[in-house]
Amino acid sequence: MTPGADRVLAGLRRAEDQSCSGQSLSDELGVSRNQVWKHVQRLRRRGYGIEGEPGGGYRLIGTPDRLYPEEIAANLETTWLARSVEHLDETESTNDLASERGREGAPAGHTVIAERQTAGRGRLGRSFYSPAYLNLYTSILLRPTLSTHDAPTLIHATAVGCANAIAETLSDRTAIEIKWPNDILLGSLKTCGILMEMSAEATRLDFAVLGIGVNLNVDREDFPDEFRHRATSLRTHSGTAVDRIRFAQTLFRELETSLERHAAGGFEALRGDYEDLFRMTGQEVRVRDLGGGERVGTVLGIASDGALLLESSPGRPERIVAGDVTLAKAEFPHE
Ligand code: BTN
Repeated sequence: MTPGADRVLAGLRRAEDQSCSGQSLSDELGVSRNQVWKHVQRLRRRGYGIEGEPGGGYRLIGTPDRLYPEEIAANLETTWLARSVEHLDETESTNDLASERGREGAPAGHTVIAERQTAGRGRLGRSFYSPAYLNLYTSILLRPTLSTHDAPTLIHATAVGCANAIAETLSDRTAIEIKWPNDILLGSLKTCGILMEMSAEATRLDFAVLGIGVNLNVDREDFPDEFRHRATSLRTHSGTAVDRIRFAQTLFRELETSLERHAAGGFEALRGDYEDLFRMTGQEVRVRDLGGGERVGTVLGIASDGALLLESSPGRPERIVAGDVTLAKAEFPHE
């Protein structure tokens, strides 16, 4: 959006439900009233409801259900995260674009949001269903001072931030569960996935991209067959539509908090929060590793570096650093 239209919008917002005179906007911006009218037209084309009042005033009567940077910035409670937002109507994957920005030198916290992804992806080569205007698909660029060895725990910090944002939105955390390492479940069904991608030199991280997809308002019935049996959305779960802009603002605030705690104290600082939402301890699970190998064992908990502790033969706990975990008696063990 142009800076002029942005300032007209800010003026209309300040007036709340009162009318704002064209003259005062023109004085404030130092442009002609005709120019103000052109900015208003631009805002209307973007989906804003702006009523023209007799006498030349304007009143904001509706904002579009789009994750526009100016909407997110309006009530954003972060210091550095999502202070620069790039919004696209459609892209293949927001992670690709955020990685490109990382290579170009964009600052930490730069955020890409798309209304729809044509090739949204998850871990282990899976796709992430990304229909338009219903959910949140976002990728955040980070430049942490971390070794590649410690980097995976950023996923755990992200999972805590996502779970907290979902809990706040639903005003309830009883149904929320973290599925190690990177999914958030609601009533045992997936509602949020995290895909971290990194660029590193030797053992030091250059940048990381945190890709987050949250099913907010998509109807469970509308998921393609391959996802429907294991996915849900906040709206399907609670019966109430989610304000996507407010959710994005809550998520960015919670993520900034979690990432700052991680930066100050590593995974150890968040371990209690992660374990509170990790409900597989004591359960018998099946772990599929990245090479396709499989083992069954009892979950003992999460190690201080974020690894899953599994006892597959008595008295010999193993550390699992990557893989996919499902309850051993689950109906769909490989999903
Ligand atoms: C998973 O399910 O394994 C992770 C899913 C991550 C999806 C998000 S949506 C935004 C970002 N862009 C992608 O292509 N993937 C992530």
